[in-house]
Formats: sequence, structure tokens, C-alpha cells
Amino acid sequence: MHQEAEILIGKDVLSRIPEYIISKSFSSVFVLVDENTFEYCYSELKEFLPKHHLIEIESGEGNKTISTCERIWRKLTEENADREALLINLGGGVLSDLGGFAAGCYKRGIKYINVPTTLLAMVDASVGSKTGVDFMNFKNQIGLFYGPQAIFIYTDFLRTLTEKELYAGFSEVIKHYLIADAEAFYEISDLFLQICRQNISIKQIDWEELVKKNIYIKSQIVDKDKFEKADRKALNFGHTIAHAMESYYLNKGYRISHGMAVGIGILCESRISIGPGTRFAHIQLCIFFLFKDLPELPQKDIPEILRLIKQDKKNTGGHVQFTLLEDIGTYSINNVVEESVITENLKYYSEYTEIYDADTTSN
Ligand SMILES: NC(=O)c1ccc[n+]([C@@H]2O[C@H](COP(=O)([O-])OP(=O)(O)OC[C@H]3O[C@@H](n4cnc5c(N)ncnc54)[C@H](O)[C@@H]3O)[C@@H](O)[C@H]2O)c1
Repeated sequence: MHQEAEILIGKDVLSRIPEYIISKSFSSVFVLVDENTFEYCYSELKEFLPKHHLIEIESGEGNKTISTCERIWRKLTEENADREALLINLGGGVLSDLGGFAAGCYKRGIKYINVPTTLLAMVDASVGSKTGVDFMNFKNQIGLFYGPQAIFIYTDFLRTLTEKELYAGFSEVIKHYLIADAEAFYEISDLFLQICRQNISIKQIDWEELVKKNIYIKSQIVDKDKFEKADRKALNFGHTIAHAMESYYLNKGYRISHGMAVGIGILCESRISIGPGTRFAHIQLCIFFLFKDLPELPQKDIPEILRLIKQDKKNTGGHVQFTLLEDIGTYSINNVVEESVITENLKYYSEYTEIYDADTTSN
């Protein structure tokens, strides 16, 4: 089910939640948090909520599983949640994906709203109705198109986010700009350069403006193609390699953040798209700025990445299909890319991380 969600953003959005809840006559209210959003965000939200039940889960992608959903379903059942109950997901993309999926399955669907607390969730994950959980080390293997009723975005929640998580959220920002807004892309790459040179803080960004611009780009694309038959595939740019990387490192017993995986995906898929050159140098600058600790990929493991890419759920008829850039700011979908070309560009990444690793260990 796709639901047109109301999106509210601003300093006063939390105070608008009570009027929203009253207007919909929900039978009960549940709030899903993880330990960090409980510690840093819940108290600010709580003062605007009616009587509610709290469901706390452990943070992190490792908990985006069916067994965590079971805990949510158990709590909903124990507290007699009926079909008019409301679930509020207070957290990052893990919580909105997981909570949205749990809400979509419980009694064939109860309503939910997202209150995103990470940059990644504000600019991307909380919007667009994709929900799901990971399964057998594959990302979002089980899921639904099941949209929130509303999204309340309060960017002050970003104050407590670690710098690492903040930077990870920028990979989806870069993706949006690369597929749809060349001017915004060059603006942000200039800003990153300034931050490097003058040691100014990233915190001076106008977060509301940035979030609005990104939601606009995402919504324009999703509205044209809610179920990813065509245009929405644009948003998969960087994600074919990203998902393979996430699974690869997980199989090695090492978890990388979704944002970092998307950063690696953007790097390799941009190079596949437009080759090395000046335009690519700008993209590379952004990704290297955001992720100083990109993980090593030994060349001997490239066939393993290719195997994982072939299992991507976005493939059809056994063909690996990439969304690629035509230029900065424009894209094309359903590109079949030769295995040798994918290998060559993974080799570029592998060589970079080998050199980088040698550099940092010799320092
Ligand atoms: N559905 C979609 O369209 C979509 C799009 C992009 C990404 N995603 C999914 O989003 C997930 C990644 O989201 P994420 O990066 O937000 O991860 P996350 O939800 O794991 O949050 C990152 C970390 O920040 C903590 N945190 C959250 N808010 C905080 C705050 N305000 N202060 C301090 N700590 C805070 C969390 O507890 C967690 O430890 C992935 O599972 C990815 O697949 C979904």
C-alpha cells in the first residue's frame, strides 16, 4: 500500500503532533525507540504525546530483523493494539524501515508516522514508503511498500548525532544531487573543500534547507513511480555495489554503515558511468572527505563482490541492471554493464584502499 504522507518540517513540528493525533482518533499510541533515540530524543517528543506505550529495541543494522519485528508484534499484542493503533518511529533509517514493516504486517496494517532523527533518515529513509528487514545477510530482502501517514522532521535532533553518522547521511545527499541537481552537487563539493581548507564546521549548514531540497528531489521521483517500475530506479544509483559491499563485509564478520556502503557504491558506479576525469575527481573528493576510513577490498575478493552483485534483488532475467549517471545531474536506468567493466572499477577501489592502508600504517 502506498500512502501519500504529509511531511512537516520546522522548529515547532513536535508541538504539532498532539493536534495530529487527536484529529485521527487513534485507539492507542506506541513509540518505537532504540537506546540512543531513547536517550537523546525521546524526552523532547514525550512532552507532546498523549498516554502511550514505549517499545525499546537495540540500535544498529544488526537488529533490522524479523526477530526484532516479533518483539514489536508481541508488545502490540500484549497491549491489545487494535487496527486503529498508531506506531511512531523515533529514530534513524533502521527504525523507520523496521517499524514501518512491523506496522504494515500487524493485523494487516496499522498506521504509523516517522519522526526521523538521523540525517540519512531525514533526507531519505523516512520518505517514500519502502520498509523492510534484512535476511540471511541480504539487505532489505523481506519488505513492503507501506507508507507512513505523516513525517515530522525536527532537525535539532541532529545535534546529538556523532560526526561519523552525520557524514554517513551525506552519501544519500550526494546521490540525490548527482542524479538530479548538478548545481547543488558542485555547491556541496565546494563546501566540503572549504571545510578541509579552512577548518570550518559542517554544523553551520542550514539543515532545514538541505533536508527540504533532498525531500523535494526524492518525492519528485517517487511520485512518478511509486513501485519502482521505472523512474524510481534512479534512486538506486550507487546501491547495486553498495548492497553487495554491505553483504561482503558482513560475511567477513565486519559491518560497515549503510551510508559508507553507498559512498563506495557512488564512487565505483560514478567511475563506471563517466570514467575517471575532472567530473569524477569532484565526486571522489566528496566521498574521500566524508569517509576517511574506507575499508580495504583485497583484489582476490572481487569475484565475491561480482557474485553478490548478481544476486541483487533489483536484477531481472539474470541481468545485472545499473542506474548510471549520464552526466552530473542526469541519469539513465536499466544499464547492463559488462562484467569486465565492473571488475575494472572495483579494482580501482581495491587499489585505492591498498595504497591508503599502506599510507596510514606507515605513518
Ligand atoms: N526505506 C528507504 O527508502 C531507505 C533509504 C535509505 C536508507 N534506508 C535504510 O536506512 C538504514 C540506515 O539508517 P541510519 O543511517 O539512520 O541508521 P540508524 O537508524 O542505525 O542510526 C544510526 C545510529 O545513530 C543513532 N541515532 C539515531 N538518531 C540519533 C540522534 N539524534 N542522536 C544520537 N544518536 C542517534 C542510532 O541509534 C544508531 O546507532 C539502513 O538500514 C538503510 O537500508 C532506507
